Amino acid sequence: MAKNDNNLMDKIVSLCKRRGFVFPGSEIYGGLANSWDFGHLGNELFNNLGTLWWKKFVQERDDMVGMRGAVIMSPKVWKASGHLQSFTDPLVECRICHERFRADKEEEIIAHAQSHSAKESIWTEPKSFNLMFKTFIGTTEDAQAVAYLRPELAQGMFVDFKNILETSRKKLPFGIAQIGKAFRNEITTGNFLFRTKEFTIAELEYFVRPGEEDKAFAQWADFMESFLVNDLGFKKDNIRRYEHPKESLAHYSKGTIDFEYKFPWGWGELMGLASRTDFDLKSHEKMSGQNLKYKDTETGKEFWPYVVEPTVGLERLMLASLLEAYSEVEPRSGEEETVHEKEVVLRLPKSLAPIKAAVLPLSKKEELAKPAQEIFTELRKYFMCQYDETASIGKRYRRQDEIGTIHCVTFDFDSLTDQRVTVRDRDTMRQERVLIGELADYLKNKLA
Ligand code: GAP
Repeated sequence: MAKNDNNLMDKIVSLCKRRGFVFPGSEIYGGLANSWDFGHLGNELFNNLGTLWWKKFVQERDDMVGMRGAVIMSPKVWKASGHLQSFTDPLVECRICHERFRADKEEEIIAHAQSHSAKESIWTEPKSFNLMFKTFIGTTEDAQAVAYLRPELAQGMFVDFKNILETSRKKLPFGIAQIGKAFRNEITTGNFLFRTKEFTIAELEYFVRPGEEDKAFAQWADFMESFLVNDLGFKKDNIRRYEHPKESLAHYSKGTIDFEYKFPWGWGELMGLASRTDFDLKSHEKMSGQNLKYKDTETGKEFWPYVVEPTVGLERLMLASLLEAYSEVEPRSGEEETVHEKEVVLRLPKSLAPIKAAVLPLSKKEELAKPAQEIFTELRKYFMCQYDETASIGKRYRRQDEIGTIHCVTFDFDSLTDQRVTVRDRDTMRQERVLIGELADYLKNKLA
């Protein structure tokens, strides 16, 4: 399906709601703008994405360790990191309705002025607006109690650098990875999961000797692209690299590239790769008074390592995965006589699919339902499964295709005598008769 299909986003949002992937947050209270909750399938898909990222970026590598840091850190962290001073958007305020807009979002500014039929400028001078969410620690709400919800995870890795270095006994080059929630008081949110105020970042800080950062940068760029293409199965045409011009670099970066994805509304950042130099470790050493240098065991020389940082927002990656997987096909489930429309198949990679196998007795009759339930009980020991005995078999195939289930296992009347079930593959539609006693191993093999 062409990605410029304007309805594609509507279809994804509607599928997500209808099948319980993603719901509007706080919906019973009228919703909260750009906040989303995940149902069972969305939660599974999201967790599978995080697990796959962790497997590829941490588990399968010798040079990586993981950590899990606090959301609320000492406010000094954000002073040292530069976020208090520089993590800002330029905002202008409409003098008529007092709504605020990003000064750099020209289209929105023009549309808003037109909505007031304004002849003269309605805008105040741009002011810097810090994107960090403020909160208070303890019972008083004075300046000394102010704290912030972390807007990025990176600072956790810098603040814990020494603890991790000592306990992991890693030598350069090595990296520290983390997955967790980040919070930004974004002014311009929208496009479903694309830009929200709370989201999950999967990122790592890769520490190298000064002078080796460009080589590491190039290697991580290839690794990230391979993750998108080979592990997530994204089409190469839907991904491109964008190099930030020097003047738009974040305050900590000497070079950044974004991996952009061709979203239905245009190209947008999906993953980022930044060359953070020794900016952060140096600043934290200055602020904390602690020595955050790396000591070379052979020469005894001390220095601040340089840092390369691959990062991605998992909700955004989930949206891109859904867009990439969505397909409509000619009727194929045997339901075409009653349902005269195309069928949806969510072609998620097997590692991401929320449900790996659905067990479907041909009829609800106990002689079929009971052994089918026993198969379900066995299979769910190994992977997330569903059992469904309601409606015609064609309708049940449709339901499973729509949520991306990899295998449908059908127990029919022949199964009672030959002890075999039919296993249908979502993509090839091939059906195989498999011995019940060998089914778990057969599926484990297919899903590996
Ligand atoms: N430590 C570097 C850092 O945080 P970033 O590009 O600001 O980099 C990381 O954010 C990733 O998080 C982005 O590549 C993007 O995928 C995702 N992201 C950023 N802002 C987001 C938002 N408001 N909503 C959802 N995802 C977001």
